[in-house]
Amino acid sequence: LAHTDEKTDAGIRIPRDRLQGYVEAIFRAAGSDPDEARIVAAHLVEANLAGHDSHGVMRVYKYVDWVKAGQVVPNRHATVVADRGAMLLVDGNFGYGQVIGREAMTLAAERAKANGFAVVSIRNAGHLGRIGAWAEQLAAAGLASFHFVNTSGFGILVAPHGGSDRRLSANPLAAGVPVAGGKPLILDIATSVVAEGKIQVTKNKGEQLAPGLVIDGAGRPTTDPAAFYASPPGAIFPFGGHKGSGLSFMSEVLAGSLSGGWASNPASPTAGRLVNNMLSLAFDPAAFGGSDFFAEDVKRLTGWTRASPPIEPGGAVLLPGELEDKTRTERERDGIPIDRETFARIAAAGESVGVAAPK
Ligand SMILES: NC(=O)c1ccc[n+]([C@@H]2O[C@H](COP(=O)([O-])OP(=O)(O)OC[C@H]3O[C@@H](n4cnc5c(N)ncnc54)[C@H](O)[C@@H]3O)[C@@H](O)[C@H]2O)c1
Repeated sequence: LAHTDEKTDAGIRIPRDRLQGYVEAIFRAAGSDPDEARIVAAHLVEANLAGHDSHGVMRVYKYVDWVKAGQVVPNRHATVVADRGAMLLVDGNFGYGQVIGREAMTLAAERAKANGFAVVSIRNAGHLGRIGAWAEQLAAAGLASFHFVNTSGFGILVAPHGGSDRRLSANPLAAGVPVAGGKPLILDIATSVVAEGKIQVTKNKGEQLAPGLVIDGAGRPTTDPAAFYASPPGAIFPFGGHKGSGLSFMSEVLAGSLSGGWASNPASPTAGRLVNNMLSLAFDPAAFGGSDFFAEDVKRLTGWTRASPPIEPGGAVLLPGELEDKTRTERERDGIPIDRETFARIAAAGESVGVAAPK
């Protein structure tokens, strides 16, 4: 299903800056100070540019609802709860994840530069959005990184391998590698076979899902996105059977249990709100085998991997992040596609806080 988001038949294309300005205005009207509105809007627009529409401006109407319900609190900042030098525990205080994540990654970069590595554990952040953004922030500081994420309480969506209902969260993993003189390599995947937002996008477009992604509320395979949102709700499969299921379980522990932010549990204190927890590991190549060796070896590995003859005629080996780079280039040029249902929902959210939709 990845990148079916690019189908734009029933939609419109909006230039990046125009979309950013509009979304920023909505967040300001919903109570965010100008910096926060800009940071949240930029993160969402950047997700659309990367092709991850499920984590793009489609989130505006949910975020506005959450703010109105007090589930996300504007203008909150990350606070350091424990500090052991290379290890930090940060509380997000239920603020926007885009702000909390950015502040926590700034701390991670400082500590990794000072100590050679850093471990930053974040709890109680609002939705951290596209997790690849955090690997990109660290890669821009010259650091390699790995990120484990879970969602406590609300956001339980995935059936464990062998199970037939929702027990685990989508629990994304991201990793980033800085590339000397080039774009960073960014792996950014949910441990569910598909991200929940992509099911929402498919439903908004009135399309069917590919087979093998979800089961309905009775545990039967289905391609109907509406069956996933019915009552009782369906569940998403983990990717790769027991392997994705096992990684997802460990993400729950490393992101949720370790931080004090809770693993997926309908009885958690955060059950009614979407809370992301994240464990971020940042590494300064200079402190390990050396920056020059790292840069050269990544270059060797990249060339070696890419040189594999395509398995299909006209195909190519893509490295982590390359598909997003390609989509970013196209969308910077042609505008960001948004289906009409999604745009109508964003417009309604904007109007509910007094921001008129652009023509
Ligand atoms: N905040 C949250 O709680 C949360 C939860 C789930 C997902 N997400 C986000 O949802 C987004 C989508 O996740 P997803 O699992 O649907 O992503 P996806 O299936 O599109 O996979 C994306 C990753 O796979 C790589 N990739 C894609 N096609 C490739 C190919 N043909 N060859 C080689 N590599 C390829 C991409 O470069 C990227 O690293 C991510 O940004 C993720 O962080 C967030």
